[in-house]
Amino acid sequence: MEVIVAGNYDEMSRVSAHLIAKEIKKKHNLVLGLATGDTPIGTYKELVRIHKNEGLDFSKVTTFNLDEYLGLAPLNKTSYNYFMWENLFRHVNIHPGHTYVPQGNTEDPEEFCTWYEDQIKKAGGLDLQLLGIGRDGHIGFNEPGSSLASRTRVKALIKITIDDNAKFFDKPEDVPRFAITMGVGTIMEAKKLLLIANGKKKADVCAKFIEGPVTSQITATALQLHSHATVVLDEEAASVLSRREYYNWVRDNKHMVQKKIGR
Ligand code: GLP
Repeated sequence: MEVIVAGNYDEMSRVSAHLIAKEIKKKHNLVLGLATGDTPIGTYKELVRIHKNEGLDFSKVTTFNLDEYLGLAPLNKTSYNYFMWENLFRHVNIHPGHTYVPQGNTEDPEEFCTWYEDQIKKAGGLDLQLLGIGRDGHIGFNEPGSSLASRTRVKALIKITIDDNAKFFDKPEDVPRFAITMGVGTIMEAKKLLLIANGKKKADVCAKFIEGPVTSQITATALQLHSHATVVLDEEAASVLSRREYYNWVRDNKHMVQKKIGR
C-alpha cells in the first residue's frame, strides 16, 4: 500500500484528483468508482477545474458509485445521486447514461444489487475505485463485521455512521438506517484503489487500517490485501501513524527507484 501524506485538505484533494486525471488520460474509457461524503468534495472540485482549464475529457468515462441510502429517490436532495450531480457530473462532459449510482428507491433491492454487479462486469470491471473511510473503518457502507468477500447488497448502518451522516439531513431521525453498498469483494476487484482521508477525527482509524491487522471489524483493512492501493491523507489524518517518517522518505525519494531502473 502506498501512503502519501499531504500537507492539508487542499493538497490531499489536488494529489488525489491528479491521480484520477492521470488514469483518465491513460485510458479515455476508464471505469471509475466514485465515493461520497465531505472528504471527496475537494477532489471533485479539482477534477472539475482540470476539466475546465486543461480539457480533461470525461466523455467516454463510465462511473459507478459505491453506495446509496435505501429508500431515497435519486432526486432527493440528501441522496448520493443528487450529491454526485451537484459536485461532479453536472460540471463535466460525462454522458448521463454512463453514470451509475445505486437506486435507493428500487422496488426489489436484491434484484437491483445483482443488476448493479452485472453492469460493472459488462463495463469491463472497475479500473480505479475512489474511497473515503468512516470513523468505524468502513469503505462504502461496509460496516464492521461485513464479510471481506461481500458483494453489492443492502446493509444496516451502525450508530456511529448514522450520527456522522446526520450532518447531511435536517433532523437526525431522517438519516436512513439501511443502504445499498458495493461489497468489500466488489471493491477489491477494482484494478486500483485510491482511499482519501482528512482531519483529526480520522487519525485513529487510519492508523488502524494502514498499520493494524486485517479484520472484517475494520473493512478498510482489506486494502492491505490489494496489489495496487494508494492512500492519500492530510497531516491530521496521518498524525498517529507510527511509520510516518518512512512514508515521507519513500514519497521524497521515489525518483531514486526510477533512476535505478534507468527511466
Ligand atoms: C459515508 C459513505 C462513505 C464515506 C464516509 C465518510 O458513510 N458511505 O463512503 O467514506 O461516509 O464520510 P466523510 O467523507 O463525510 O467523512
